[in-house]
Amino acid sequence: MDKLKIGIIGCGGIANQKHFPALKNNAELNEMTAFCDVIVERAEKAAEEFGAEGAKVYTDYRELLADPDVEVVHICTPNVSHSEIAIAAFAAKKHVYCEKPMSHNTEEAEKMTEAWKQSGMQFTIGYQNRFRPEVQNLHAACEKGELGDIYYGKAHAVRRRAVPTWGVFMDKQQQGGGPLIDIGTHALDITLWCMNNYEVDSVSGSVFCKLGGLPQAAEGNLFGPWDPETYEVEDSAMGYIKMKNGAAIHLEASWALNMLNSREASTTLCGTEAGAEIHSGMSYQKNELIYNRGRNGQLMEETISPTGSVAYFGGGGGEEGTIDCRQWLEAVQNGTQPLVKPEEALEVTRVLDAIYKSAAENKEIKF
Ligand SMILES: NC(=O)c1ccc[n+]([C@@H]2O[C@H](COP(=O)([O-])OP(=O)(O)OC[C@H]3O[C@@H](n4cnc5c(N)ncnc54)[C@H](O)[C@@H]3O)[C@@H](O)[C@H]2O)c1
Repeated sequence: MDKLKIGIIGCGGIANQKHFPALKNNAELNEMTAFCDVIVERAEKAAEEFGAEGAKVYTDYRELLADPDVEVVHICTPNVSHSEIAIAAFAAKKHVYCEKPMSHNTEEAEKMTEAWKQSGMQFTIGYQNRFRPEVQNLHAACEKGELGDIYYGKAHAVRRRAVPTWGVFMDKQQQGGGPLIDIGTHALDITLWCMNNYEVDSVSGSVFCKLGGLPQAAEGNLFGPWDPETYEVEDSAMGYIKMKNGAAIHLEASWALNMLNSREASTTLCGTEAGAEIHSGMSYQKNELIYNRGRNGQLMEETISPTGSVAYFGGGGGEEGTIDCRQWLEAVQNGTQPLVKPEEALEVTRVLDAIYKSAAENKEIKF
């Protein structure tokens, strides 16, 4: 089969950390033929390092979308531009892998979903954490019913001091919010996916802007001190989500919080047969999955510490970004369903949006 021709829009942090290496690691399935960034040097550098022969460079995403050679577009720009670019990409009959979150608000995410449905093209969102071995293991256990009826979950996205100081992460207009939309989105995605429950009944939330504006709080930040004058988004947010079947989820997200336990892209699930916890983030040296249950009259803990490789979709082991990328490219080539469905990502965005709304209006949001 011919290699898919990929165009990447936004050649900053996540493009360099995830997309370029992952696409390169799947070179038998694709070639990177077009690069776009409003900062031309970034697109030029990426084209030189990762581009196929004759790869094109653009500063306007519309020109990249008009390029008939490009079949698949990866959107790696700040949150606020996801919907505009994705909708234009579907109109140009391109397949779209869009970075998380799907969009900065529900209205735009719904427009993207509608445009995708009209287009007949493939669409997925960058929730690569689903491809981590411990998340795969937990999902498989949940699917088999090993936890029983899962009636309580916790979605953990807590950093003690790790405010992202590059790009536009502290800019409310560009990103739509702070840690909730940035990392809360991953934790909620894996929690809902493992629970296989997208039927939300109501959402309550609290959003805090306590440390972002304090110069003394910026000291000790993992990514260097931030500028309190330009810090516009929340620094922590908590949500309580009630599902239609009575299950409940507690979501906690922070970039800066005076709490010892830094736990990110993690979930805790409690079922009638067993419970399970994923430990990952800065308080943990390695990612772990721990099941807990009663057996033979005693409480048992079973720890799975995967070595970092997982066989998936018939492929060999590999890092999650590479596996995610492979299943996406195969889905496009074969016309099959990518693992992360747009409807699931839309529901995550709806919940995050409702937490912000609940906090702003000081009331529970009914779905
Ligand atoms: N999947 C993950 O774990 C993960 C991790 C980090 C970031 N992200 C997501 O990736 C997106 C980008 O984050 P980042 O860290 O790469 O930010 P970044 O600021 O490092 O990179 C964004 C790039 O997009 C360019 N850009 C901005 N607007 C553009 C436009 N209209 N057209 C073309 N280029 C444009 C910028 O010049 C910049 O180079 C965000 O949505 C973020 O949530 C996902």
